Amino acid sequence: MVEVGFGTGNALACFAEEHRDWDCIGIEVYRPGIGSLILRCDALGLHNVRVVEGDAATILAEWPSSSVRLAAIYFPDPWPKRRHVKRRLVQPAFVGDVARVLAPGGRLLMATDWEPYARSMLKTADGEPTLANEAGAGRFSERGLERPETHFEVRGRESGRAVWNLAYAKTQ
Ligand SMILES: C[S@@+](CC[C@H](N)C(=O)[O-])C[C@H]1O[C@@H](n2cnc3c(N)ncnc32)[C@H](O)[C@@H]1O
Repeated sequence: MVEVGFGTGNALACFAEEHRDWDCIGIEVYRPGIGSLILRCDALGLHNVRVVEGDAATILAEWPSSSVRLAAIYFPDPWPKRRHVKRRLVQPAFVGDVARVLAPGGRLLMATDWEPYARSMLKTADGEPTLANEAGAGRFSERGLERPETHFEVRGRESGRAVWNLAYAKTQ
């Protein structure tokens, strides 16, 4: 599995602990977050986590096709200002690359607490022809059990923000 933008890495470390037979890869640009994940893995005795430091869009573009069973993007930076929207990670080309690296039957899970981004993610991923929305086109999913609450999710909940979840399966 791959988690893009894992932040402090609590969700990734939890997943890796519960799935010790999976190879788990995190991609992150934030060095203190990478350090935090490595310390967490060390404390938990995990040997199935690898970290790639860098921009996920550039890195995934070079990954082999059909090589991933689960891709997770939890609470990507929302870039709420209109002039910054183009900086958002979840854009058609990026989702196309994520879909390409997923093996048939593989899943893409996403979550955000910023509604305009949630709607944009839904439209973008629904528009990717090799992904099927598990909740049905145009619909958000229930929160899955694949992740514990992430750092940003806890912060959002404490501020009273809602969370939108998205789940897709690679069709071909
Ligand atoms: C809002 S935080 C969410 C972190 C974590 N997923 C959580 O829910 O607590 C977004 C994370 O994505 C990372 N990030 C942003 N752009 C990225 C990119 N192009 N490639 C990899 N990581 C990225 C940031 O460094 C940050 O840690």
